Amino acid sequence: MRILGIETSCDETSAAVVQETGDAAKPWTIRSNVIASQVPIHREWGGVVPELASRQHIRDICGVVERALDEAATSLGDLGAIAVTQGPGLVGSLLIGVSFAKAMAAASGLPLVAVHHLAGHIESLVLQNGEMPLPAVVLVVSGGHTSLYLVEQPGRYRLLSRTRDDAAGEAYDKVAKLLGLGYPGGPVIDRLAQRGDDRAVQLPTTRLTHADRNAPELKGDLDFSFSGLKTAVLRYVRSHPPSGGGSGFSPREIADVAASFQRIVVTVLIERLFDAARRYEAKSVGIAGGVSANSRLRAELQARGAARELPTFLPSLQLSTDNAAMIAAAGLRQFRAGVTAPLDINADASLRL
Ligand code: KG4
Ligand code: ZN
Repeated sequence: MRILGIETSCDETSAAVVQETGDAAKPWTIRSNVIASQVPIHREWGGVVPELASRQHIRDICGVVERALDEAATSLGDLGAIAVTQGPGLVGSLLIGVSFAKAMAAASGLPLVAVHHLAGHIESLVLQNGEMPLPAVVLVVSGGHTSLYLVEQPGRYRLLSRTRDDAAGEAYDKVAKLLGLGYPGGPVIDRLAQRGDDRAVQLPTTRLTHADRNAPELKGDLDFSFSGLKTAVLRYVRSHPPSGGGSGFSPREIADVAASFQRIVVTVLIERLFDAARRYEAKSVGIAGGVSANSRLRAELQARGAARELPTFLPSLQLSTDNAAMIAAAGLRQFRAGVTAPLDINADASLRL
């Protein structure tokens, strides 16, 4: 069976066709995965502007879906279902994909599958590499999320912990902004950090030891927090005048801040992931979401996994940031479990997994 996936939760308009392989170990293959990025539009503003994002989704969605079907040599009659991201995300953006998918399902008579965006990121690991040995602990780390999930059975995701404040990708973007490096910050800091001294700047790590009063299911010690780190970078930048005495930091100084910041973020993410893996006796670990494109994070995951003899899973770079192929994959998983959505579903900006 083939499924059409549609993703519009933030600033990428994406559509994809994913097909079942019949091989239980590697269940899905990508026939097409078209992504229209809005980065050039939002760069001018230093971050995603929700109103501009939803308007651009409207302009792009028809062409993106047509191209995805075209590249997959697939007509509506070849599809078994339509999967769409229902949430979480920007509500105006989500609405475009959800409305489009509902209209297509109504017109074609195809079943509709409503997918949680983070289920998509988790299934990107399976789409890329095949099924993970379970139980697995997966870190979803992006511009909007930093959460650890335990996957005990295929398609069942249990939240273990999450960030109490900023997401890791958000911290990357904010630190890049205060260093004057542009948007999105993750790839730029990643590149500059490779030339910097990661011990040059002393920055704090945060370890939470108490439960969240507003969310008692979050016990504390596996949770994340990045706002203190971001503030520490801000303080450092304000209290250390550039060495040349001029108005700007030298490339060397910026590379040192980038490397020091990246060392802390990656260390925290890897430590928590492997702490959780030990606690829940995981048979594999994975990292998904935009920040999983980070070169140091990828290298440290693989090194730590090899040292512990624990299989590690990563998406390809294209599947790490937002895309519809991962939504199609999660949609196939749900469809095969018998879960479809009625045509009166709505976009849900804070949908729970
Ligand atoms: O998953 P994604 O495309 O969108 C969300 O759902 O948020 O993730 C985007 C985030 C941005 O914050 C971006 O700065 C970050 O992923 N990112 C990176 C890298 N590439 C993208 N962060 C660190 N290193 C990278 N190489
Ligand atoms: Zn995402």
